[in-house]
Amino acid sequence: MSNRRILVVGSANIDLVTRVPRIPKPGESVIGLSFATFTGGKGANQAVAAARLGAETYFAGCVGDDAFGAMQRENLTREGIDLRYLASHATEPTGTAVITVADNGENCIVVTPAANTGVTVAEVAKIEDELSSFDAVLLQLEIPLDAVEVVLAAARKANVLTVLDAGPAQHVHQRLIELAGIVTPNETEAEAMTGIAVISVETARQAAAHLIEQGAREVVIKMGGSGAFYMSVDEWFHVPAYDVSPMDTVAAGDAFTAALAIQWNAGSALEAVRYANAAGALATLSAGAQTAMPTRDAVERFLKERKA
Ligand code: RIB
Repeated sequence: MSNRRILVVGSANIDLVTRVPRIPKPGESVIGLSFATFTGGKGANQAVAAARLGAETYFAGCVGDDAFGAMQRENLTREGIDLRYLASHATEPTGTAVITVADNGENCIVVTPAANTGVTVAEVAKIEDELSSFDAVLLQLEIPLDAVEVVLAAARKANVLTVLDAGPAQHVHQRLIELAGIVTPNETEAEAMTGIAVISVETARQAAAHLIEQGAREVVIKMGGSGAFYMSVDEWFHVPAYDVSPMDTVAAGDAFTAALAIQWNAGSALEAVRYANAAGALATLSAGAQTAMPTRDAVERFLKERKA
């Protein structure tokens, strides 16, 4: 049985995306090719991915009382996500992400959290008692970290699976690593957490081992075009990526994390990581964040085609 009732506690942003021939270097200007506005934010993206993958999905976050906040609410509602835990900030505007996406699909993101800072310890304390009704709780690092810690601790107490997406890249306090059920950094985030540059399967193994030593239970390092690396205290394995031609990698990691959480315990860890790899690969094939999240049918069709 896959995990069907999912709570995402996290950020909701509006993404201001410019396509560029290449990501500019510091101090350099480049001419953009096109501009578009998308609903984004790691938390909201993961909620949309979970809903499209068939989960009954709840989103806890905070948006501004403004046009961007309304845009986010409208989209999440359209996706069938329960917004009873989504607050509106009295003074701060909705969070934004200024994003450049290069021709090869690579991206560069600057997030201004603004209303996301409204996901406080006091706010998440209101949902603590309800955590036991969920199969899995997903968190990221774009909301106040003390609130993330409170949710991780309460979910641990209630024996509910948590998946901690370690983005955006930063040093993460050991307490969060110890409390999370599965920690899912990408290569840059894994380096920020461990000091080990993840540039190969071997360095991913070293970074994952470092996190296990710090008290992580299970680690999945998202390596983009190089696949994903799993480690627990008992085993480790690498799963190569599916061969696709990415046009926009924004939120591919969010699709991966949501898919991993939903498929966790449905079969082996290897099967769940493969499923997540497929969801992540599909998310790179279209533009935007929430717009690019794949459906369960699409992932299943893809896995069948690739004979996984
Ligand atoms: O993971 C991608 C997301 O990171 C974007 O949608 C952006 O809003 C930032 O939160």
